[in-house]
Amino acid sequence: PSGARVQVLVIGTGYGGSVAALRLAQAGVDVHLVEMGMAWDTPGADGKIFCNTREPDYRSYWLRTRTKAPLNYFLGFPLDRGIPKHTGVLDAEEFAGITVYQGRGVGGGSLVNGGMAVTPKRENFASVLPTVNADEMYSVYYPRANAALGVGTIDPAWFDTTPAYQYGRVGRKHAQRSGFPFVFVPDVYDWDYMKQEEAGTVPKSALAGEILYGNNHGKKSLQRTYLARAKATGRVTVSPLHQVTSVSPAPGGGYTVLIDQLDTSGNVVAAKTVTATRVFFAAGSVGTSKLLVRLKATGALPALNGEVGKGWGDNGNVMCGRANHLWDPTGSLQSAIPCCGIDNWSAGGAFAEVAPLPTGIETWASFYLSITNNPHRAQFTWNAAAGKVELSWQAAWKQPSIDMAKTIFDKINAKEGTIYRTDLFGVYKIWGDHLTYHPLGGAVLGRATDNYGRLTAYPGLYVIDGALIPGNATVNPFVTITALAERNIEHIIATDL
Ligand code: FDA
Repeated sequence: PSGARVQVLVIGTGYGGSVAALRLAQAGVDVHLVEMGMAWDTPGADGKIFCNTREPDYRSYWLRTRTKAPLNYFLGFPLDRGIPKHTGVLDAEEFAGITVYQGRGVGGGSLVNGGMAVTPKRENFASVLPTVNADEMYSVYYPRANAALGVGTIDPAWFDTTPAYQYGRVGRKHAQRSGFPFVFVPDVYDWDYMKQEEAGTVPKSALAGEILYGNNHGKKSLQRTYLARAKATGRVTVSPLHQVTSVSPAPGGGYTVLIDQLDTSGNVVAAKTVTATRVFFAAGSVGTSKLLVRLKATGALPALNGEVGKGWGDNGNVMCGRANHLWDPTGSLQSAIPCCGIDNWSAGGAFAEVAPLPTGIETWASFYLSITNNPHRAQFTWNAAAGKVELSWQAAWKQPSIDMAKTIFDKINAKEGTIYRTDLFGVYKIWGDHLTYHPLGGAVLGRATDNYGRLTAYPGLYVIDGALIPGNATVNPFVTITALAERNIEHIIATDL
């Protein structure tokens, strides 16, 4: 309620926010989680909480009147369609040079993502978090994060036989024939559940093409892991459809937090003021950066240091499809959960996920999301005239990512005698280079914050999400975001509380 005084307020319920909530509650601290998106705990008229990727409806997008699918063309035809404006689960947030996809709701990105749960290779860790003790991360915090997230790997024998991963086996064959290391990638999807989906004994989710707009079954989102445990402590409350708009020092100590309550059309229905002793920024790389940059520039938190807003990257994301020969089909049934990849990071700067294209029909396409070692970093700045935060990313900055992805796919195409698909991102457009799923940075550890996420100019303010990671994680990022949050919160509980 407005006027309340709370011990800890956490902005956002993604990975960073969920870790903070659980560990603080276990340490005996009352925690209030504030989330701008919906709770996603109530089925719609069709009995389902989330809509299907093939039939996006009002539940799909965050306050848009038209879908903005990452893969928005097929055989040259545009796929986007009109939808009612609603506080849907996937935000396609548009900046001048890039569209940043993010989850909206209790569970953050875990609601919409593919669940690929990858621990970076130890030899690459120094480039991810240079000021963090890698021994501690690999002996304590990565194992802790993987266990709490429920990470598991596909049964290789089932992979070899199920029709749902024919596309994965084609991906493996092509990778290996060109001499690239093929790797199984862990995921938080319940692999036993997926086998039961195939057997027809449970409602289908991954095998019904559910991804991007939520999975109704099978995926262990944060609601089923960290957040369930946090709520079970009895010390954690969650306010969905509440958006934090300001944080500033309170006259009597602690921080004044301004919060807008939203309805499902995005209208503000109430404005609330809460005082919190400590505030954790866990609004995601973009959400946290936008708040901090605006609050510094507009005088709410003027002493934040000059690194705030800097060091943002797209994790080098770039997508592409390859057209296979007619004798090399990828299957009409494709599990929406990816389970494997091609590792050419050390030789070519690219790690490619063999991605599903769960259209329900045979496409003869192999589809890939590459994570590349793109060197560009952008900055968030406050545009006072426009009254909004802007991002300096330029569309042309994707070229290094394309070049790195080509180290894999040019070689495979040459070996297989195949070509790139040109019909998936427009008309005669090969590369999905307009977007990222993996925003990282903007309040980088050891620069905008101290080495544990403290905003040191303001005791009691912390950053604990993907904003801490300097633009690239060398692999899909949420395990690293979770493990870093585990490390930081343990230290903060031990020393600050
Ligand atoms: P996260 O974005 O999860 O959470 C932030 C939360 O804060 C959101 O719920 C948001 O609504 C809320 N918020 C923001 N501003 C607020 C405000 N002002 N007030 C209140 N609440 C606010 N990663 C991976 O490792 N493997 C994968 O397979 C994938 N796949 C994937 C697919 C797609 C489609 C997407 C969009 C993303 C992925 N990712 C992924 C990326 C992964 O989901 C992402 O890195 C993490 O969710 C980031 O975790 P954070 O805790 O930083 O923020």
